[in-house]
Amino acid sequence: MINPSQEIIDSAYVKDYEKLYTEVKENPEAFWENIAKELSWFKPWNKVLDWNYPYARWFVGGQCNIVNNALDRWQKTDVAEKKAYIWVAQDGTERTFTYKQLNDAVSRFANGLKSLGLKKGDRVSIYLPRIPEQFIAMLACAKIGVIHSVVFSGFSVDALKNRIVDAEAKVVICADGYPYKDKVVECKKNVDEAIENIKMATGGTPGRDPGSAQVTSTDGKDKAGQNLSQIEHVIVIKRAGNNIQMQPGRDIWYHELVAKQDPICSTVIMEATDPLFILYTSGSTGKPKGVIHSHGGYMVGTYSTLRWIFNLQPDDIYFCTADSGWITGHSYIVYSPLMNGATTFVYEGTPDYPDPGIWWRLVEKYKITKFYTAPTAIRALMRLGDEIPNKYDLSSLKILGTVGEPINPEAWLWYHRVIGKEKCPVMDTWWQTETGMMMISPLPASPLKAGSASKPFFGIETEIVDEKGNPAPVDTQGYLIIKKPWPSMLMDVYNNPKRYLETYFQNEAITNTQIFENKQFFYFTGDSAKKDADGYYWIVGRNDDVIKVSGHRLGSAELESAFVAHPSVAEAAVIGKPDEVKGEKIKAFIILKKDVQPSDQLKEELKQQVRKMIGPIATPDEIEFVDKLPKTRSGKIMRRVLKAQELGQPLGDTSTLEN
Ligand code: PRX
Repeated sequence: MINPSQEIIDSAYVKDYEKLYTEVKENPEAFWENIAKELSWFKPWNKVLDWNYPYARWFVGGQCNIVNNALDRWQKTDVAEKKAYIWVAQDGTERTFTYKQLNDAVSRFANGLKSLGLKKGDRVSIYLPRIPEQFIAMLACAKIGVIHSVVFSGFSVDALKNRIVDAEAKVVICADGYPYKDKVVECKKNVDEAIENIKMATGGTPGRDPGSAQVTSTDGKDKAGQNLSQIEHVIVIKRAGNNIQMQPGRDIWYHELVAKQDPICSTVIMEATDPLFILYTSGSTGKPKGVIHSHGGYMVGTYSTLRWIFNLQPDDIYFCTADSGWITGHSYIVYSPLMNGATTFVYEGTPDYPDPGIWWRLVEKYKITKFYTAPTAIRALMRLGDEIPNKYDLSSLKILGTVGEPINPEAWLWYHRVIGKEKCPVMDTWWQTETGMMMISPLPASPLKAGSASKPFFGIETEIVDEKGNPAPVDTQGYLIIKKPWPSMLMDVYNNPKRYLETYFQNEAITNTQIFENKQFFYFTGDSAKKDADGYYWIVGRNDDVIKVSGHRLGSAELESAFVAHPSVAEAAVIGKPDEVKGEKIKAFIILKKDVQPSDQLKEELKQQVRKMIGPIATPDEIEFVDKLPKTRSGKIMRRVLKAQELGQPLGDTSTLEN
């Protein structure tokens, strides 16, 4: 157990976790209601929580807009002149935005979006790298009630296409290109190709469309066929200055669009339960799911968690290394820091470019106080030794954070010792795209255990259960579930309520169907974990077919469909294998089509195929050609068996195995 210093305890918002946790447990709704009152609302709610299985609706009847809290409410205060963002490019160029400047930029762009005919409820796909316009675009959409769907800039054409189609987006916002290490990524080309592919699919072109399996909606209809010319405009931000093709009538330069606009735009009044954004994330089966978050509940949950867990103070310079293509960026680079009036630091590049001292140099130069990153980066930097961080003055740091995958005690201790100089507590925050906010985490004043995410946040009731849904004994691995709704809980899966119900509330891992029949709140996280005798949670990892590569969430099924799209492949099964740096790596078992000869060249081709279809983050590490795959009698691939075999572990229950 590592105890916090007196200085940390003195400065913490919450000094006695146990006491407050127990109090809040009695009446969590009152707790969340009090937090909601710290924010601005156009109209108060009639009901804090409306639980109607399997949907939780928060602050029902309330009217708000998250942008009203992120930007508008600061404009007549001192915060207006405070820096909202300090952004540093890969080449060291700096751009800063005060809250006033950010508000002007967002308002101009919101007016620009309106001038294109976008209105409340429309969807826009944002395919942007980590540049300020990524945040501006998200906020501009939210301001006018347009639902944004951010697509990570590292995703490739097919992944982008599937997300555009599923969200039924009318507009795509992208960049011409962006610097990535010493290359320029020509991302506008991907947008052109994605739109072209959508058109081809909708034009009824026969033949194989590898992505189409992933764009089939629940009713079995290929959604690409529903909306023939859905993309009306592509708005292009000039970042790299590379040569691109602009399609007349469709493509618009961002700088030309906003130059004509007024910097004043009224923020649209939203119901608390109106959708704010869709964010796609991988599940066990099929295509990635469009997780929907609301304006009201999401606002309350994200606002309070960062504030308390990172002990946000007015003079903080907070550096979150995530990308807004993922939930961490949505919640904790964009919305929550702005609602807290914080100054957020963003670095455009990667942790190893121009050299692996870059983060620590930035910490020194900008006097970063709060630093939030992922275990995979910590492990990669740790391997390079203490010398690099030791060259820099890291004394401004006060609190460190980690998220995205389990952090091994060795990496935790290194982070605590070498980066935090044993004075900065490490907040190991467990949460998910679906939870919207941090759910299990220490607080700055908590005693810490290296490698444990500690305990649930106030108002969050978690449990470890066995497959019957009964609480598991101490130190015994089981399913991590959540027993009460929380404000920033996902509202639904876009266009797929069945998948929402089955993934989170009627998960097949729980065999006790009485839980479902009783319509009990029993949110299934998909993670395995243990709880120790002190009530500390130890997250083991996913218990479904989701793989976490460097903290990025990938589904076995999406990877397999990328393999199967190759003309030589008959069948594919993909598993995650432990990796010292990345957490997990991808291993694929491939059955080739008859008469196809296995070769190293083919392995390389298959790797490139997956990279091209999903993105570089999905590049497989190992490929093995096999003749057979373990299957159930109903024909489902038993990845669990493959994984156990690969890792030399017991095979477990194989009674349903066909061969
Ligand atoms: O397996 C857990 C892991 O990441 C999953 C959620 O992934 P995603 O939706 O991409 O969101 C990541 C950023 C919030 C979880 O189901 N995970 C996340 N945080 C932790 C973690 N595993 C262990 N420890 C964590 N702190």
